[in-house]
Amino acid sequence: VVLVVDFGAQYAQLIARRVREARVYSEIVPSTMPVAEMLAKNPKAIILSGGPSSVYAEGAPRLDRALFEAGVPVFGMCYGFQLMATTLGGTVDNTGAREYGRTPLHVSKAGSTLFEGTPVEQSVWMSHGDACSAAPEGFTVTASTDVVPVAAFENDEKKLYGVQYHPEVLHSTHGQQILEHFLYRGAGIEPSWTTGNVIEEQVAAIRAQVGTKRAVCGLSGGVDSAVAAALVQKAIGSQLTCVYVDHGLMRKGETEQVEKDFVASTGVNLKVVDAQERFLTALAGVSDPETKRKIIGREFIRVFEQAQAEIVAESAGTGEDVAFLVQGTLYPDIVESGGGTGTANIKSHHNVGGLPEDLEFELVEPLRQLFKDEVRMVGQELGLPEEIVQRQPFPGPGLGIRIVGEVTKERLDLLREADAIAREELTAAGLDREIWQCPVVLLADVRSVGVQGDGRTYGHPIVLRPVSSEDAMTADWSRLPYEVLAKISTRITNEVADVNRVVLDVTSKPPGTIEWE
Ligand code: XMP
Repeated sequence: VVLVVDFGAQYAQLIARRVREARVYSEIVPSTMPVAEMLAKNPKAIILSGGPSSVYAEGAPRLDRALFEAGVPVFGMCYGFQLMATTLGGTVDNTGAREYGRTPLHVSKAGSTLFEGTPVEQSVWMSHGDACSAAPEGFTVTASTDVVPVAAFENDEKKLYGVQYHPEVLHSTHGQQILEHFLYRGAGIEPSWTTGNVIEEQVAAIRAQVGTKRAVCGLSGGVDSAVAAALVQKAIGSQLTCVYVDHGLMRKGETEQVEKDFVASTGVNLKVVDAQERFLTALAGVSDPETKRKIIGREFIRVFEQAQAEIVAESAGTGEDVAFLVQGTLYPDIVESGGGTGTANIKSHHNVGGLPEDLEFELVEPLRQLFKDEVRMVGQELGLPEEIVQRQPFPGPGLGIRIVGEVTKERLDLLREADAIAREELTAAGLDREIWQCPVVLLADVRSVGVQGDGRTYGHPIVLRPVSSEDAMTADWSRLPYEVLAKISTRITNEVADVNRVVLDVTSKPPGTIEWE
C-alpha cells in the first residue's frame, strides 16, 4: 500500500486516485496519525498531500522527523513539500511571493528521477504563499519557477522527493508521469493493482464473511448498489436477495431496467416492492423540500425493513439465518465520514439503503476501498449493462425533489415525460459523458402565459439543469450546443401537455446546488 497523508483541503483524495490510476493501491490517512502507526501499515511509499495551511501558521499540522528516517520513500507535494523542507533543515520563507494557477516550471536536471523524459519547460498548477529558498542538505534542486528558486528537490540516496506544485491536477501537464516516476523509479514499486484483483479479493472476503448465511441488499437503480449486489451475487449466489423499493419517484424506464436488465445480467434473486401509493399518500400536501426529503427517507426505511422482515421470515422455515446487509458504500464516503469535520448540513441527503443504527445485521460493504470510476470498471468487468454502469448520479429521493411544489401522480407523469425527452436528446447528441448529470425540474407552482395553436395557454415551466462536475461538491452549468437545447425545448413543449416553456439554469454551484431542492 502507498499511504497518502492528508493535510486538509481536497487534494488527498485526488492524489489517492491518481496513484491507483498508476495501478498502485493507495489509502488515505489523516496527518494526525502517529508515524509509528503509519509505518505499522508497512507502506511501500508515503505521499504528503497539499493543504490550506502555511507551515508558519500557528497550529499548522506538523510531521515527526521519524517519518523521513524510516527508509520508506516519501514524496511531498505543495504543503507536504514545504513541511519536508522545513523538517529536514531547508528554508521556507514567507516571501509574499504568491503563485496561483497555471505556472511555467523550469526543469534544471532533465534526467532526474522525477523529471526523466519530460520537457525542460512544462506547465504546472501552483497554489501557495510561502516559498522554499534552500533545499535541505543532501537534496538536489531539480526545478524552479520565475518566483520560486526551489520548486522541486530530490534525494535519491534517501528516496525523498518533493515538488512545490500539484502534480495530481490535470493542469500540471506531466503530473501523472512525475507521480509514476516517483512510484516506479523512486520507490521501486511494480504497478500491479487492477479491478480484476479487487473482484477476486472481494469475492473471497465476502465468502469468508457470510459463510452459509444469507444476505439482503437494497437496490436503488444506481451504480453503487448495483455493483455491490453483483459482486456479492458472484460470491454467494442464491444466498443473496435484493430488494427494490418502487417509490414511484423513478424516471421513465428505470424500474423496468432494474427488473429486467439487472436480473438478466446477474441472475440475482429480486424482490420488488410496489410502494407507489404509500409514498404518494405520505407526500400529499407537502411542498417543503426538507419535509419531502425526510418523508421519503422515513418511508423508504419502513418499506425496506418490512421487506427484510419478510425475507427473514421466509428463510426461517429453511433454518437459514439472514444476518447480512449489503451496502454500496464507497471510499470517499468512508474518508469523508472518518474526517468528521463538521460540514454544514445543506440538504439532508437520503441514501437509498441508508438505514437506522439499531440494525441487527452485519454490513457487507465490498466497495469501501473504491472510487466511483473504479466501481464502474468493476461493474463493467462483472458484465453489468452499460446503461447501469455508466449511469449518471440520480438522487435517492428521485423526482420527488425535482417537482417544486406538491408531488402528485399527474405531476410525476408529466415530469417523467419531459425528463425522458431531455435524456433521449442528450444521448442522441453524444453528450452523456460530457455532462455530469442533467436534472429536469418541474416548477409546479409556477404558471406562465403562452400561445399554442390558436389559443392561449397557461402552463408550467420545465427547467433544464445540465452541469459539469468532478465530484458534485462544486459544479458549473454545461454549455450545451444551442441546437440540442432547441430540440429539447421544441419536443418538450410539443409533446408534454401543460408545459409551455423550457428554461435553462445557468447557475454554478456554489451558489446554486445541483438539484433544486
Ligand atoms: P446537490 O443538489 O446537493 O447535489 O448539489 C449533489 C449531488 O448529490 C445528488 N443528491 C443526492 N443523492 N441522495 C442521493 O443519493 C440525496 O438525497 C441526494 N440529494 C442530491 C445530486 O443529484 C447531485 O449529484
